[in-house]
Amino acid sequence: MTDRLHGPFRARPSHPLQGQFQAPGDKSISHRAFMFAALAQGESLIEAALESDDVLNTAKAMAAIGADVERTGPGAWRVTGLGGRFESPTEDLDFGNSGTGVRLVMGLLAGTGIKARFVGDASLSSRPMKRVTDPLAQMGAKLVTQDGRLPVDMQPAQLTGIDYTPPMASAQVKSAVLLAGLTAQGVTVVREPVPTRDHTETMLKLFGGEITVALDGEGRRITLPGSQRLDRAHIRIPGDPSSAAFAVVAALITPGSEVTITGVMDNPARSGLYRTLQDMQADLDICPGPDMAGEHTIDITARYSALKAIDVPAERAPSMIDEYPILSVAAAFADGTTRMHGLDELRAKESDRLAATADLLAANGVSVAIEGDTLAVTGAAEVPGGGRVATLHDHRIAMSGLVLGLAAQNPVEVDDTAMIATSYPDFLDHMAALGAELEPVR
Ligand code: S3P
Repeated sequence: MTDRLHGPFRARPSHPLQGQFQAPGDKSISHRAFMFAALAQGESLIEAALESDDVLNTAKAMAAIGADVERTGPGAWRVTGLGGRFESPTEDLDFGNSGTGVRLVMGLLAGTGIKARFVGDASLSSRPMKRVTDPLAQMGAKLVTQDGRLPVDMQPAQLTGIDYTPPMASAQVKSAVLLAGLTAQGVTVVREPVPTRDHTETMLKLFGGEITVALDGEGRRITLPGSQRLDRAHIRIPGDPSSAAFAVVAALITPGSEVTITGVMDNPARSGLYRTLQDMQADLDICPGPDMAGEHTIDITARYSALKAIDVPAERAPSMIDEYPILSVAAAFADGTTRMHGLDELRAKESDRLAATADLLAANGVSVAIEGDTLAVTGAAEVPGGGRVATLHDHRIAMSGLVLGLAAQNPVEVDDTAMIATSYPDFLDHMAALGAELEPVR
């Protein structure tokens, strides 16, 4: 129902939310499945893929470099890969809003001997690219940015493995270097002082790739040999914990609610929000489900809860980096002041998410302060609402604003909903099925 997602929307204080749905496919894993399938030799099958704008742009990019990409049913795709023999695309590779898409594909293609130009929308074009082009250049990649941003022009190059420690905790940077390492000569090592999501490492093994991950103090050392040939694979995508977070928090803050989301990926590098909500005394039942694509899954039942404020440590940030806007909405209803530390990286997301989250809350009468890289939110049993949220083309700000409106005293408006389709095209349908009152603003 992507076509319903445009223009301003309003969320009204709702009756209790009730019901169950299956979490949409994980965005990070869907991107990677298309990339690995295109790089592998032969016909791979992908099931339960997230068909959001971001992922579809990655699928289109894989087709533009010569992979045969065919949709065979809802969420089902057949991708016939070329064993790394890509062709230069005749048009720009447009990644729309997606940092993951553009940064990982730069790594994937940098050593394959083709030319390409990488572009994106206004939000993506304002985001930093040197965090990826710098290490890729150290490997020998020929990538020219526009002052560190898109468009990026890539020329054919032969890469050599490097030993790299990213200066920020970023799975995108790690993954770009690892993907480039697959086509490089020699060994590539990435050292992570703080572990980030490990989906690239896990999925590479499913495609027959060779990679070792060793514990290194608090962090990890990831090593892979170059010049790898990948085999085709059959991948079923687990549900997205970052998308499930919206209905979970909606249930926790809307009196009388009980909501179950099934098939949610459970990976310690992604589950920081759920740990944090439990620390805040959220009533969450967790029930194990089947493994998919090398990842565990769980069903989560969330019931309305009297939340308590806590301090969220900086070390937890990489495992919940996309969840701070919706955690901040939960914090607005918690007893006391929740302090979330170590949020510098939020400034480099689809918007300056630290400022956008604070503005979202302030516009709706919540007491909030940014103290360095800490966000402090003081909760109240009754949140006034009544504000209009500036989404700044950021899907997670839009969804968080609407969730706030379900439990506030007055309706909350968000100025646009189009960007929600980048990560969660079924958001409105899923929320409406639970009884949430969401309507377009005429
Ligand atoms: C992602 C990594 C994270 C996250 C993004 C998806 C990934 O970005 O914010 O939504 O799939 O690797 P960073 O690695 O830049 O923190």
